[in-house]
Amino acid sequence: MAKLIPVEEFDLIIFGATGDLAMRKLIPALYHRDRDAQFEGKSRIIGASRSKLSREAYLDKVKACLREYLADGEYDEGQWQAFRKRIHYVSVDAANHSGWDKLAALLSGQEARNRIAYLATAPSLFGPIAQGLRKNDLVTPASRIVLEKPIGHDFESAKKINDAVGKCFSEGQVFRIDHYLGKETVQNLLALRFGNFLFEPLWRRDAIDYVQITVAEDLGVGGRIDYYNRSGALRDMVQNHLLQLLCLVAMEPPSSLHHDAVRDEKIKVLRALRPLDAALVRSHTVRAQYAAGAIGGEPVPGYLDELDGVDSDTETFVALKLEIDNWRWSNVPFYLRTGKRLKAKHSEIIVHFKEVPHSIFPEQKYDLTANRLAIKLQPDEGVKLTVMAKEPGPGGFNLHPVSLDLSFEETFGVRYPDAYERLLMEALRGNPALFMRRDEVEAAWYFIDSIHEGWLETGQKVESYVAGSWGPTASSLLLDRAGHAWHPDS
Ligand code: BG6
Repeated sequence: MAKLIPVEEFDLIIFGATGDLAMRKLIPALYHRDRDAQFEGKSRIIGASRSKLSREAYLDKVKACLREYLADGEYDEGQWQAFRKRIHYVSVDAANHSGWDKLAALLSGQEARNRIAYLATAPSLFGPIAQGLRKNDLVTPASRIVLEKPIGHDFESAKKINDAVGKCFSEGQVFRIDHYLGKETVQNLLALRFGNFLFEPLWRRDAIDYVQITVAEDLGVGGRIDYYNRSGALRDMVQNHLLQLLCLVAMEPPSSLHHDAVRDEKIKVLRALRPLDAALVRSHTVRAQYAAGAIGGEPVPGYLDELDGVDSDTETFVALKLEIDNWRWSNVPFYLRTGKRLKAKHSEIIVHFKEVPHSIFPEQKYDLTANRLAIKLQPDEGVKLTVMAKEPGPGGFNLHPVSLDLSFEETFGVRYPDAYERLLMEALRGNPALFMRRDEVEAAWYFIDSIHEGWLETGQKVESYVAGSWGPTASSLLLDRAGHAWHPDS
């Protein structure tokens, strides 16, 4: 395993410090990085939220969350005793302008340190918190601000947030999170495409028939139903995670890994997406909502039951057929699908190559299957290439699809760090490569808005799918019409 490099002393202020994201993801991620000795000297983690809590009471919460969210055997009392010394707490109410003086007192004298404000709050607070930091002279040259998704709920609201934050921080200081960019396997996509000669000559319309991206979840919306019911799958997942994956698959090779080199290529893809206006949404999009069903043998309620019978047209599943209007990808469909309460947690990108132009094996038992490259994001991270091989033995040429299957875990044999561990470290180091630039976020919203407007204009209602399936029939038909198919699809 590569040697871990410590980060310089920092003050990390987590706004929304008692919330779900902080407790479930950020604190455990910081615990792991501290355990691996990556935090120098007296680096501090300062929890900030509206709750009036003493430091001791906050520490109790943090300890309880570590015990709950760390994997078996990862909690260590000695490590906790060291970690807790880094943790402080202040009560700040950004909307009502109170508590800033206490935060200022805690930060006073530490102006030279890296100072990172992590906003794990509702997006409506991004502007007020940025202003609070600026007004109270807490923004230093070594300051950065990290914004959690969602950055707004459409193009206009995202622009307003970016403007408000932009008045207090320069663009180079703003780190917008899409946690999929911190996933090891998503980064492996770059390694696969640009660290191997093999794929690039084939990575284009001449050799590729279609591409599909699936991000399936077996879980429902849990405790976030209020947010989710306003958002839906298109805004919650496609605007960010799925479009980012699409960009990494479809972008031109960047000249380096420099953050702007990669982001410049990604934005070109977003801008080349053919807008799905009212004329196209019906044939190119599917929106659906889960009805009661069963997952892993256990019965699960329908979405409306979870809303206690309140009527809702929010989609918990979406499938799209997208086209990229450029030379490389002209006429190559990119199918995207994501949903809650599907059969299994399963995220994968599959590149379907074209069939051979002429078969020299006319009498064989099976059809020749086109090659497929599957990039498995989670679980079972790895790469699987399906090729045709001859069945052993006499009896002529019987070709059969076989898989070259590489599991990263078996190959490297190490624990995969959570995406937040990587992203927090990059933010602490000041490396923006894995974060989204303002123009990317806005271009993604602009595209997503066109779909929403199309849905409104055409009155496209949600279809129904049974929880525990791979989505509605309409999703299979979306591909079927072109002779394509989802994997997995049953
Ligand atoms: C979040 C969405 O961004 O990603 C959630 O808001 C979703 O609804 C989650 O469950 C999925 O992340 P992961 O890492 O579990 O695939």
